[in-house]
Amino acid sequence: MPIVAASTDNIERAGESLRAGGLVAMPTETVYGLAGDATDGLAVAAIYAAKGRPRFNPLIVHVASVAQAAAIGELTPLAERLARAFWPGPLTLVLQLRPGCGIADLVTAGLDTVAIRVPGHEIARALIEAAGRPLAAPSANKSGRISPTRPEHVAADFGDELPMILDGGPCGHGLESTIIACQTAPPSKDASGEGLVLLRPGAIAVEQIEAACGHRVMRAAVDPDAPTSPGQLLSHYAPRALVRLNAVDLMPGEALLAFGANVPPADGAVINLSKTGDLREAAKGLFAALRALDASGAGTIAVMPIPDHGLGEAINDRLVRAAAAR
Ligand code: TXA
Ligand code: MG
Repeated sequence: MPIVAASTDNIERAGESLRAGGLVAMPTETVYGLAGDATDGLAVAAIYAAKGRPRFNPLIVHVASVAQAAAIGELTPLAERLARAFWPGPLTLVLQLRPGCGIADLVTAGLDTVAIRVPGHEIARALIEAAGRPLAAPSANKSGRISPTRPEHVAADFGDELPMILDGGPCGHGLESTIIACQTAPPSKDASGEGLVLLRPGAIAVEQIEAACGHRVMRAAVDPDAPTSPGQLLSHYAPRALVRLNAVDLMPGEALLAFGANVPPADGAVINLSKTGDLREAAKGLFAALRALDASGAGTIAVMPIPDHGLGEAINDRLVRAAAAR
């Protein structure tokens, strides 16, 4: 079993393995990540290969401090304000890449921008320190499948392919980081000449980001054929079962992903994301619930409506992708 306790010794060993070009699955506060040395093109190639991920879909660079981030991407004044407000934490900033900063080309898929975050999970930051370099880390799932929020989910997707999965227990947020592009040009010009564009709703609600920096966040136009954030492909997070959204009643044989107090009668598997209608609780349990209902063997997972405000925006984003035709 490659799942190991995140002891000081194991984190040291994992750091050595990363320096030697190996891959390590690490816990973060959002989802588990599949980490490799972001300055080593071969290690980054191994991440794409292990996930079966298309190479046009760039990776997020994980660093331990704002200073380390600023050495890789250009932190505009507005970006720096966001970094100071939310790092360490589940916010990813897409910044202009500093040429010659050492990040492997494959990480950014050849773009002149780079996605960076300082993870809020202590084990993730300890691993970055132990490796002594920035770590590229996509979610530790096979491409197109449901993101892992527990070490067993990583093991279920990769088996013994990965030598080490550091055990950090269940992830606190359960949804990936919110991705914001910090632009210095129109179309989203404001008084300071900077604009913020939401590339992926995630663990920090847009409302929170706007409140913290006093700027509006624009929504990127959604065109699944030409995604602004290249990873925002429509079919994603796909369980084996079909997913039916906004269900108010159940059809025979369906499993139910419920939300709130008024749950329709069901004879199959039921998981309630939050009986009290708490969006944080729902976000935290979402991916594990999709995996469990999928494992129940039902042909279809019916999903009750979930409000679209706050974290609901990110929850519904993931559910729409889980339901998309493949
Ligand atoms: O919470 C998270 O962000 C997790 C944990 C492990 O940190 N990571 C994660 O990585 O979700 P991944 O690879 O599953 O998603 C990365 C997203 C993709 O949608 C990718 O297209 C986008 O980040 N991205 C990366 N670099 C970009 C860039 N330069 N411009 C626009 N989007 C970028
Ligand atoms: Mg992912």
